[in-house]
Parts: sequence; structure tokens; C-alpha cells
Amino acid sequence: MRDFRVPGGADLERRVGNFFKWQNLRRQNGLWPFSRATDFGPRTEVLATDDRGINMEGVNFASQDYLSMSSHPEIKETALAAIERYGVHSAGSAALVGNTTHSVALERKIADFLQMDDCLLYPTGWGAGYGVIRGLVRSSDHIVMDALAHTCLQEGANAATRNIYLFRHLDLAHCRRWLEKIRSTDTENGIMVVTEGLFSMDSDTPDIAAMQELCNEFNATLMVDVAHDLGALGPGGRGHIGAQDMLGKVDIVMGSFSKTFASNGGFVAVKERPVKEYLRFYSPTTTFSNAMSPVNAAIVLKAFEIIETEEGQVLRDELMANVLELRRQVREAGLDYYGDPSAIVAVKMGSEGLARLVSRELPELGLLANLVEYPAVGKGAARFRMQVMAKHTRRNVTDAVQRIVAAKAKAEIALATMEAGRPAMRAVA
Ligand SMILES: Cc1ncc(COP(=O)(O)O)c(C=O)c1O
Repeated sequence: MRDFRVPGGADLERRVGNFFKWQNLRRQNGLWPFSRATDFGPRTEVLATDDRGINMEGVNFASQDYLSMSSHPEIKETALAAIERYGVHSAGSAALVGNTTHSVALERKIADFLQMDDCLLYPTGWGAGYGVIRGLVRSSDHIVMDALAHTCLQEGANAATRNIYLFRHLDLAHCRRWLEKIRSTDTENGIMVVTEGLFSMDSDTPDIAAMQELCNEFNATLMVDVAHDLGALGPGGRGHIGAQDMLGKVDIVMGSFSKTFASNGGFVAVKERPVKEYLRFYSPTTTFSNAMSPVNAAIVLKAFEIIETEEGQVLRDELMANVLELRRQVREAGLDYYGDPSAIVAVKMGSEGLARLVSRELPELGLLANLVEYPAVGKGAARFRMQVMAKHTRRNVTDAVQRIVAAKAKAEIALATMEAGRPAMRAVA
């Protein structure tokens, strides 16, 4: 994928054709496991169709619905009631009249949940990540960012300034060195330090308290993306910020509703209302974009309510029990995974060739799992990012592990056969 990022040539449309050729070769060989559509939504067991029109049926570890909220009866009732009340469309930016009673209440709810002063909604989590950086950082400012930060954060940084300094993943000593270097010559401009509460490919977490201290020391602003842990992990669903006793202490918290809250949308929570008001009018992905739909706002508000109840705790416990069981069975089967326990169990494959061949076998064996390969992760570090839901059953977990093991065994044979054939082909050439 990396090779096609910067295509050459004067014709903007023709020059991207090589990507399609390469993609199609993979597609024709059953090695393009992306762009699938499900028939009945992100359930634990799905019917799905790939982009060749080929159907598969099986266990689903590829959807992001960590607490299984998308099929929760109260969430569905709430959505229907919101349609009755508001219709289906916000019909304007939140800077104009795109907000509704529910979205205003949701902003308050999130601010209280995180012990922040205020909160601003965005139509997508991607827009929130991009927009908070683009909104606050100017070209003379600096961004110090974890090298594995999500694309929305990287794109926001690239749009805001050329002064971007990546530090090695989770390496606070490296982060400090950049801050020292910047402040040794520039005390006039701002610095935003950017990280995630739970990294989406590696399932690991920074020392958020230490990062905030560093930021205080160097007059920098910390921004933490909690897309993958808020609601699903930590005390009362407060994610790693809650687990590290940092509620109300991080400068800026940004998140997405698409993993745990059964909805499109995102937010930026801040410690002072002036920051919210500034973003409302200077953060392009909210100012000049249609507000979250009233239906989505009502869904997310209900999801936060459930998360705070006894039932929310039960859902988190069920999720974690599934996560631990999946990790246990993966290890028992002789495989390995990345990171710490979370809804993301990234099963290591290694080479891209092997991982693609495994992905070819999985649909037939009845497992939907997302292949992640370079450049989304490092070269030779391909993996299947299994995303666990509260309502997966023990049977689902066992089936998934058995199917991935069976697929890997078949793929290894296929790979060995191909590799054995290669010298002969080279000799012919
Ligand atoms: C860490 C992180 N931040 C932001 C986003 C974007 O969220 P959304 O899907 O709501 O646009 C994602 C989703 O892929 C993510 O993983």
C-alpha cells in the first residue's frame, strides 16, 4: 500500500490506476480481505459479502462494538424515539443550529464523565482528532507525537505545522528530549504533545500522568485520544485516564463513539470553556461540517447512561472475560498477541505473505478478522486485529482460535510450496 501513496504523473486520475492493478491481482487471488459488507450489522456471527460478491458466514471478530451496544434493545428504542422527536437529520453545523437538546446534554454528560469543564461534539472521531490539532496549533507551533499515533492525529498535525517531532512509541525519555530541544530555542510558541490512551494496533498505553507532568514542565498541552478505551475499560468505563487517576487532570481529551458507543461521532473535552468556544469556530471539521445527527446524539447519550449502570459494569466484565479467554486460547494454540488486555487482541502473524494467505483461508473456515499489514504497522509485523465484543460466547472464542490455527497451517503449506517453486521459476526466467 505504501508504494502507491505518492503516485507520479501529471494526470491525477490515470496515475492512481496502478494501485487498482495491484489490488485487483490480490482480489483475483482471494488475497484482498478488505471492503466487506455485512448483511445484518455487526453481530457476533455474521453473513458478509466481499467486494467480489462472494458470501461468507461465520464468527465475527472484525467489528468495533466492544460492549455490544449496537444491538442493545434500549439503544434501539432510543434511536426510534429520537427519530420520532427530531426526524433523522441535524441539518446544519453545530456552530449554527445543528445541535439538539440531546447533543447539548451529551456534551455535558461527557464533560462530567471525564471531570472536565466542557466538551464539544464532532460528526466523526476522525474529525475530532484532526480538528482539535488543526484548530489549536498554528504553523509556528510544535507538535510532539507518539510515532504510532492514529492517522487522524498525524493528518491534523501535517495540516497544522511543519514542526512535527515523533517520539518512539511510549518512550517518554525521547519525548522529553524533543521538548527540551524545542524549548531551548523557542519559548514563544505553543507545543501540543499527542498520544493515545490505548493504542489501536498494539493495545498498549502510555504513562499518562508522567506525560502530563512533562507537559506542565515544558509549558506544553497534552492531548490524549481515548477512542479505544473510553467506556470499555477502566473504573466505571473511564478508560486509562480513570485507571491512572487522571480524570480532570489531562489538558485535552479526545475520543470517538464508533468503538463502544454504537454510533458515528467524536468529541473533544477541555478544561476551560474558552477552548471549546474557540474550537467551535476555528476547528474546520466541526465548524464547517454538519453536526452529528440527533439520532446518533441520543444513542450515545443512552450508551453513556448504560455504561454508568450496574449493567454497564456487567458488559465490561463480560468483555474482559472474553478478552482474557481469547488471549489464553491464542497462547495455548502456540500463537502470540501484542499488548495488554483490551478489546483489541492483535494476533501476530509476521510476514505479510503468510498473513495474506491466512486471510484467504479464513472466510471459508468461517472467521471474519481484520488483517493489518504494512504500512498500518511495521514491515514483517502483520497481524489479525481481533476486536472482541461483550456478547461473544465462549464457543465464538474457541471457534475463532481453532479457525485461525487451521488457516495458518494451510497457509504455511501453501507458502512452503510457493517458495519451493520459486527457484525453478527464476531458473526458467
Ligand atoms: C485511535 C483512533 N482515533 C480516532 C479514530 C477515528 O474515529 P471514527 O471511527 O469515529 O472516525 C479511530 C478509528 O479508527 C481510532 O482508532
